[in-house]
Amino acid sequence: MAKQEDLFKKVISHAKEYGYIFASSEIYDGLSAVYDYGQNGAELKKNIKDYWWKSMVHLHQNIVGLDAAILMHPTTWKASGHVDAFNDPLIDNKDSKRRFRADVLVEEYAEKLNQKAEKEIAKARKRFGDSFDQEQFVNTNPRVQRYLEERTQVLERLAKSLTEENLQDVKALIEELEIADPETGSKNWTEVRQFNLMFGTKLGASSDSATDLYLRPETAQGIFVNFSNVQKSARMKIPFGIAQIGKAFRNEIVARQFIFRMREFEQMEMQFFVRPGDELRWYEHWKEKRMAWHKSLGLGDENYRFHDHEKLAHYANAATDIEFDYPFGFKELEGIHSRTDFDLKAHEEFSHKKLRFYDPELKENYVPYVIETSIGLDRMFLAVLSAALKEEELEDGSQRTVLKLPAVLAPVKAAVLPLVKKDGLPELAQDIVNDLKWDFHVQYDDKDAIGRRYRRQDAAGTPLCITVDHESLEDQTVTVRYRDSMEQKRVPIAELSSILTEETSFRKWIGEEF
Ligand code: GAP
Repeated sequence: MAKQEDLFKKVISHAKEYGYIFASSEIYDGLSAVYDYGQNGAELKKNIKDYWWKSMVHLHQNIVGLDAAILMHPTTWKASGHVDAFNDPLIDNKDSKRRFRADVLVEEYAEKLNQKAEKEIAKARKRFGDSFDQEQFVNTNPRVQRYLEERTQVLERLAKSLTEENLQDVKALIEELEIADPETGSKNWTEVRQFNLMFGTKLGASSDSATDLYLRPETAQGIFVNFSNVQKSARMKIPFGIAQIGKAFRNEIVARQFIFRMREFEQMEMQFFVRPGDELRWYEHWKEKRMAWHKSLGLGDENYRFHDHEKLAHYANAATDIEFDYPFGFKELEGIHSRTDFDLKAHEEFSHKKLRFYDPELKENYVPYVIETSIGLDRMFLAVLSAALKEEELEDGSQRTVLKLPAVLAPVKAAVLPLVKKDGLPELAQDIVNDLKWDFHVQYDDKDAIGRRYRRQDAAGTPLCITVDHESLEDQTVTVRYRDSMEQKRVPIAELSSILTEETSFRKWIGEEF
């Protein structure tokens, strides 16, 4: 699977074939940028949520959970700035009639410059071998310097134009850089326009009396409006956090790349309330923690990087993305924002209710500052799936497709396979399933030859296969086969539960030090 585009196509078709992801309402030809999760997808998604919840909520004495409603009072979105400022700058190509995000077109141009510089660096590394000094090369090579300088200039100009709402300059930039529609090559562009991303809906039966509402575009505001409820009822002291997992909706106009950019998606967000002035220290703390959380899954440390924001959102005084190397390149997986006291202050102003904390140490009342960690569940799902899918050549020359999901996230932890469908083997296999199913999601499978069953479970991502054979009837042992190494071990049935715990426990994966 050398080519990344091929890998991406393979991920999409594999996701469907093995019951991970289907297009929404597929029998009616689907609904653009909306997806359903199948039998394995629902389990994987739930396991990702549990992994996040365990590490963020249960492992932190000072973080509690929340499950706020999707529909909120419409003033919420006025206060948060979403009614006025939750826009994407869009541009249409007059010839191809295709619509693009103007900022993304420019960012992609800048990324190409970055890639050109990277290519030069890689060539030089090959040429100079061990004696290669990357820093010196980057600082002295005129071509690399030119690429990187141009990249910085382009991004700075984009950030300035967007901050100043100067959409004419964004269009001018696209024209100056001679950016073309990537499919048709046409450079015939319309003006750039702002487009609000919130989905509107109505509350109430008759059209006259109905109230206009929005489907929430982020879960964060449900946390802010409940700040005092949670703080008082849980008697939380600053610093403390409120975490939430839930659906969010955005009318994404340019929705491509499978589940990367969806119209209905899920977020896992945590707002951490701190003393004013302490926020940048906590921002660094959560940057480090969140990166450690990602790396704990063993999908490859080289697949993650930070991307600090040049253009800060209206509410932030520092912001970074954790980017993941998807099959279509490094893209945002999680955002970490220092949101100042913007949201709580705005809700105070619009609701006329105090959203403050009395700090007994400082003997002072203040509006706390907030550090937010916000990860898209579906993007996390895509990161896991695309990093896990491998095609391997085996020693005998045959190929296998294997989904090397972290065992803690795998939908099915073990498949229990009777070698043959007779002689009491299915009954013993069922007994094993009935015992293990209380603590682990396990599956019974007796269809096809054992080799084919192994391949099927490899491709579905099941970390262990437990094979019951005639010897099992005599000595109560079974064979455990490990998906990744394909190693096989004979073990007593009585030890299966502890083997599964060892392979799949939160403690092992998240790590004691988290
Ligand atoms: N509360 C802050 C917030 O919502 P954001 O950067 O707009 O910030 C946070 O979104 C995360 O939500 C992103 O890092 C991404 O993982 C996910 N996300 C945002 N829009 C998405 C979409 N259309 N489809 C899937 N995931 C999305």
